[in-house]
Amino acid sequence: MPTVWRRPGHEFDAAAAPALPAEVYSDPVVFAAEMRHLFAPDAGLVYLSHDLLLPPRGHQRADSDPRIVLTRDGDAVTALANVCTHACRPLVDDDRAVSHTWIRCPYHDWSFRGDGSLIGGGNIDFGEGVEGDVAKHALALPSFDLLSWRGFHFGVDSAHIDAYRTDLARIDDDFEARGIGDWLDLDGWTTAAAHDDPYRGDWKAFVEVFGDCYHVPPYHPGLASFVDCGSIEWTFGDNFHAQFLELSDEQGRRSSHYSEWSDGLQRYYARRGDPAPRMAVGWVGIYPNLMFEVYNGLKVLSVVVPVGPDEFVNRVHYCVPDDMERLVPGLPAAIIAAYDETVIEDRALVERRSEGLRAASSLGLDIERYHVNLSGDATLEAGVAHFHDWWTRRRVTQVGNGPTAE
Ligand SMILES: [Fe+2]
Repeated sequence: MPTVWRRPGHEFDAAAAPALPAEVYSDPVVFAAEMRHLFAPDAGLVYLSHDLLLPPRGHQRADSDPRIVLTRDGDAVTALANVCTHACRPLVDDDRAVSHTWIRCPYHDWSFRGDGSLIGGGNIDFGEGVEGDVAKHALALPSFDLLSWRGFHFGVDSAHIDAYRTDLARIDDDFEARGIGDWLDLDGWTTAAAHDDPYRGDWKAFVEVFGDCYHVPPYHPGLASFVDCGSIEWTFGDNFHAQFLELSDEQGRRSSHYSEWSDGLQRYYARRGDPAPRMAVGWVGIYPNLMFEVYNGLKVLSVVVPVGPDEFVNRVHYCVPDDMERLVPGLPAAIIAAYDETVIEDRALVERRSEGLRAASSLGLDIERYHVNLSGDATLEAGVAHFHDWWTRRRVTQVGNGPTAE
């Protein structure tokens, strides 16, 4: 199997990608640099929220980042720092959707419009006329440029916005090429469940597990009997990898939940009068923080929210077709139960990796910290190599722009 992927404007040689060294995991200095240079909304292409979650008119903390608040008025969405310019306290303390665009700091009554401009503050005089306007202008909430795609809103480094736009168009092309371009849309889908899963370990371990299909056949009996890992096709862009897998002929038989999913899909498509697609899933990882899992019958927004050098949250939103529960009662719940079966298994992979890295370090072992498997017909760990390559490339890029990630 070749380990080089080429497409216009992007080439990836998996065999040439260096595995990340152990010292960049769970390290406070590296973590602080990552939060500034990988996760800040002006640092690259950083998922913030989706139209499905935002109120039609109002404001809400970013889905991915408590440091950011989004305001929305119809199609107009703005990303603002969730930091009051009076004394730097967060303006919004929870994730509730609020139905007005203006934002008020509860502590001293400073208020801001949806574009971040300062309305005023409690019992404070900013001056009259032009002088007052200038003073208030300087105290507006800092804003961040957005790039919107398929209802997703990303913070973007505007100096490179064309390159990021090109990358997202590659994902469109990859789904279109497989006849499932509309699978990327959430129109006609509804959020069936959502929850936050806290993890011990470095956030990078979570993205690694997402890009590792090698573990699926031995470790996920249910998932491996629902998707056909032998059918995997990888695609890559500068900032993402995608895996496309067809349905397995086993029809989920190694798990009651996956079996229900497989059987239920047949009934669902029959009742809609539609042909049942052969594709099982497109797994899309957009670095650093969004995994969009586009299954046949389920779409999951899986968001990595770093909390500390050895702690993060995986925020999960499950979406199902609006008509699924009506056409096949109980199917959405069965599908979510199947997905969660795999989540429980994956938690062990994520947390055990951090545990093993610590053990290797404390024993002083001189071993390669990730021996990525690029052999076989399917190159099942190419996504891990691509993520490591991205992280390394971003660090190299940062050398010319200021502090590095180390
Ligand atoms: Fe897994």
